[in-house]
Amino acid sequence: MCGIVAYVGYESIADRILIEGLKILEYRGYDSAGIASFIDQNIITVKTKGKVQQLEEKLQIQKIQTSIGIAHTRWATHGEPNEVNAHPHHVGEVTLVHNGIIENYYELKEELMSKGYNFQSQSDSEIACAYIDYCYQRYHDKEEALIKAYQTFKGSFAFAILFADDDQNVYAMRKDSPLILGTSATKTFIASDIQAFLHYTKQYIVLEHNEIARCSREGIVIKNLQKEFVKKEIQTAQMENKDLTKNGYAHYMLKEIHEQPYAIKETIQAYLSNHLKDLMDQFPDLKKFKQIHISACGSAMYAGMIAKVLIEKKARIPVQCVVASEYRYMDPIFQEDTLLILISQSGETADTLAALHLAKQHHVPTLAIVNVENSALAREADYVLYTHAGVEISVATTKAYCTQVALLSLIACHLSYIHGYIDAEEEKQLLDEFKQLPILMDKLIHQDTYKEIATHLYQKEHVFLMGRGLDYALSMEGALKLKEISYIHCEAYAAGELKHGTISLIEKDTPIIVLCSDDSIYEKTMSNMKEVKARGAKIIVLATEDLPIAPDTYDVRLTIPKTDILLQGILTVIPLQLIAYETANMRGCEIDQPRNLAKSVTVE
Ligand code: F6R
Repeated sequence: MCGIVAYVGYESIADRILIEGLKILEYRGYDSAGIASFIDQNIITVKTKGKVQQLEEKLQIQKIQTSIGIAHTRWATHGEPNEVNAHPHHVGEVTLVHNGIIENYYELKEELMSKGYNFQSQSDSEIACAYIDYCYQRYHDKEEALIKAYQTFKGSFAFAILFADDDQNVYAMRKDSPLILGTSATKTFIASDIQAFLHYTKQYIVLEHNEIARCSREGIVIKNLQKEFVKKEIQTAQMENKDLTKNGYAHYMLKEIHEQPYAIKETIQAYLSNHLKDLMDQFPDLKKFKQIHISACGSAMYAGMIAKVLIEKKARIPVQCVVASEYRYMDPIFQEDTLLILISQSGETADTLAALHLAKQHHVPTLAIVNVENSALAREADYVLYTHAGVEISVATTKAYCTQVALLSLIACHLSYIHGYIDAEEEKQLLDEFKQLPILMDKLIHQDTYKEIATHLYQKEHVFLMGRGLDYALSMEGALKLKEISYIHCEAYAAGELKHGTISLIEKDTPIIVLCSDDSIYEKTMSNMKEVKARGAKIIVLATEDLPIAPDTYDVRLTIPKTDILLQGILTVIPLQLIAYETANMRGCEIDQPRNLAKSVTVE
C-alpha cells in the first residue's frame, strides 16, 4: 500500500535518496507518486500519475538539489489515481504525505470549508493537511497543532510533514499505519519500511501511537501527546541490502520461489532442535488450548486453512479459520481455552491487527506468525513465532506463505505429540522428514514442465482448480496466485462440489488443475476428474508419485514427491506457484506488481 520516505541530512542529495527509497517501496503497490522538498526556503512539489520512473524524469528536468524532503507512492483509496490526488498535499503552511484513511474526513471538510478552506483534490489527505494548517494558524505552535490534529483524526494514518517556515525539520506521527525512523550520524529518515533507507543505515526506531517525532540533521526527538520526551530504543535491522535485488532473476517472484528451500531451512531449523523444545519454550501453554481460531487475509488465510486440516487431523483440536476482514464482525465465540493464531507476512495488515485487538479485548491469548521483525503484529501479540523467509518484495507471496505453512505444520506436529496422538519416536521421524524438505523442494523447483503447462492456460479466460481436504486448501492458494498475477479468472473448488453448479461452466478445453495427494480419497477425486473430462475439460493433474492415476482421466500429469501430510502442502504449492508465474510471463503481465494490488494492506 502507499509508501512514505522522508530525508533530512547534511548532504544535498534528498532527490536521489527519496527516488531510491520510492523505488524500493514500489513493491508495496501504487498508482501515482510525488515528492516535495525545500529549495531556497521554498517548498517545491513534483507529482505524477504512474510510475516513480516518470517522477524521476520530471525531477531531472527541474534539477532539484536539496537536503530535506518528503516523498510518497499513493495507492488510491479516496479519489482516482491522478496528479491532483497524488501526494504530497499542500495547504497553507503545511505540506504532507499520508498513508491510511481519515475516516471523519467529511465532517472535517465541512468544518474547514465553513472557515474558508477550499479543496483541489478528492483526497482525505488534503483535508488532513488543511486541518493541521488550521490548527497551526490557531495555536502558532507546531507540536500543539500536530497533537490537536492527532486527537481529532479518526481512522488510520502515518504522516511525514513539512512546515513552510521550517526548513530544518520533518515531523512524523502515526496511528495504525506503520512508520519507521532511520538514524545515522549524518542522515535521518522516515519511511513506511526499513528497506527504504537500508542502503544508508540499519539503525532504526519504531514510532508508536500517540508519539510525535521531530527529525532533523542532528537526530530525532520524540514526544508523547502530553509533550513529554519519550526515550526510544535504537534497534538494528537484520536484513541485508542484497535481499533487495533480483539477483539475476527476471522477477522478484521467481527469485523468491527459488529461495524457498533456504527460507524453509532457516525457518524450521530455528525450531527443530530438541524436539521443538525451543519452539515450545517460547510458547509454554500450548497444551491447554481446547479450541483454536485462525485469522488472516489472502494467502496467509489459505496457510491457515492448511493448518486447520493438519491440526484437526493430527491433534483433534477444533480449529475455526476465518478471514480477518470478517472476524471481528461475526462476533466470534470464545471459550475459556481458545487460542487465536494470526498469520501475516507484513505484520501490518489492518484487518489482521483488528482481529488481534478484538481477541485482546476478550482476554483471549494470541499467537502471531509473522515475517517482518518488530512489525505491529509481532509487537502486540502475546506470543510471536517468526517465519524466516527474508524480505519478500513480489506483491504475490510465495516464500512467506511457504514458511507460514511450515511453521504451522510444526505446531500441528507438536500438538499431535503433546496430546498423545504420536509418540516421541514418531515425532522425531516426522521432524527428520522436515529436514529433507529443502532438497525435495529444490528438485520440484527445477522441473522443466511448468512452461509447457502454462501453454495450456495462458490464452484461456477461465481456469478451475479442484482437490479434496488438504488439496482443496492448496487449490485456494493456487487459484489466488494464478488470478492475481496473470489476470485469468480462476476458481478453486472442493472436487465433489463442482457438479453442484459449476460444472455448467465446463466446455471443450476448459483447463482444470486437479490436486491429488491423499491416498485415502484420491479415487473419489479421480471420479470427479472423469466427470469433467467427459464434458471436454483439459485436465492437468498434480499427483503424488504413489498414486496410480488412470491415464484416461487426465491430459498432463506432474508428479510430486510423497511425504507425510504435514509436509505435503509445502511441496504441492511449488508447481502451483511456477505454473502461475509462467502463465503470467507468457501473457506479458507485470508480475511483481500486479495492477491494483498492494503488498502491505494497512487499511480496512
Ligand atoms: C497474495 C498475497 C496476499 C497476502 C495478504 C495478507 O499473494 O500476498 O493475499 O497474503 O494481503 O498479507 P500479510 O501476510 O502481509 O498479512
